Amino acid sequence: MKTNVVPLLCLALTGATALADEAAIERGAYLVAAGGCTGCHTVEDGDESDYMAGGRPLESPFGTFYTPNITPDADTGIGGWTTEGFIRAFRDGVAPDGRHYYPAFPYTSYTGITDDDLLAMKAYLDSIAPVRRENRAHELTWYASARISMVGWKLLFFEPGVFESSADRDAEWNRGAYLVRHLGHCGECHTPRNALGALDASRELGGNPNGPEGDSIPNITPDEASGIGKWSASDLSDLLEIGMYPDGDFVGGSMTDVVDHNTSKLTPEDRQAMISYLRALPPVEGSADE
Ligand code: HEC
Ligand code: HEC
Repeated sequence: MKTNVVPLLCLALTGATALADEAAIERGAYLVAAGGCTGCHTVEDGDESDYMAGGRPLESPFGTFYTPNITPDADTGIGGWTTEGFIRAFRDGVAPDGRHYYPAFPYTSYTGITDDDLLAMKAYLDSIAPVRRENRAHELTWYASARISMVGWKLLFFEPGVFESSADRDAEWNRGAYLVRHLGHCGECHTPRNALGALDASRELGGNPNGPEGDSIPNITPDEASGIGKWSASDLSDLLEIGMYPDGDFVGGSMTDVVDHNTSKLTPEDRQAMISYLRALPPVEGSADE
């Protein structure tokens, strides 16, 4: 009698784990959208065989970065990575082999993502089709091309640490802060930088005259004159959901990818949380063009 019980129990348990895995993968897919990973790790106009296989050029004042392959291919992707290695890449900006990443990989924002969310993202990335494609070397100016220089940069400008919610704010604001500051990394474009490429926290989301692709990135703090102070919550919701401005025009430049791969894919609750966070920011005066 007893002998039958064990295999049955095993079967039930495997079923339960499969369900748990399935749930993690689904949650991970959502978080990868909220993290805007696709726009950077997939070439523009790529098809299914390019999905997350890297190779997209990112222009910067320090030269051109080419994103790596993050499909589960064991040789050319991140197939062999451990959970600890994956978490460390985001939290500390360090590769499993000890290399320090350039902040072109926005770990400066991703450092705040929780372990739980990182594990779900890994479960999702492990589930996508592996693509065999070698990484392309970055083409950087001489002073940026030594990875070791990142050690000094990180000492000066990088503070690793997971997001901690603020007790004097409500749950919606805290969810918005987590999405805007960390997963959505909005500040990587919308916050101005110093000459060494570090974000100026005192002007958080106050606009950036030298954004990616040569874009001048607008101020999205509630300043009346140059920010979103005059926008209603539904104006902001339309922009994040379908990319439409209050005057009926549509977003362009690098915001197109953000809307396509990230904010349009979020639940209305998560978009609302981001909007609450933006509207509660201290207003920063002056537009990106000034
Ligand atoms: C703004 C563009 C950008 C975004 C957004 C981005 N990445 Fe990256 N990512 C990069 C670049 C560039 C590198 C390589 C950095 C380097 O070589 O120092 C990188 C490196 C990585 C690595 C390390 C790969 C390796 O072989 O060492 C992983 C893993 C990774 N990204 C996953 C993600 C995930 C998951 C997301 C979404 C949460 C994401 N990235 C979002 C640009 C981006
Ligand atoms: C890759 C760079 C980039 C990232 C990341 C980014 N944005 Fe933008 N954003 C832009 C650009 C460029 C524009 C201007 C688009 C245009 O001129 O059509 C813009 C415009 C906007 C606007 C309209 C404001 C105005 O006055 O024109 C809002 C609101 C906005 N972004 C919110 C966000 C939020 C929220 C996030 C984070 C989820 C985010 N953005 C992340 C580049 C970015």
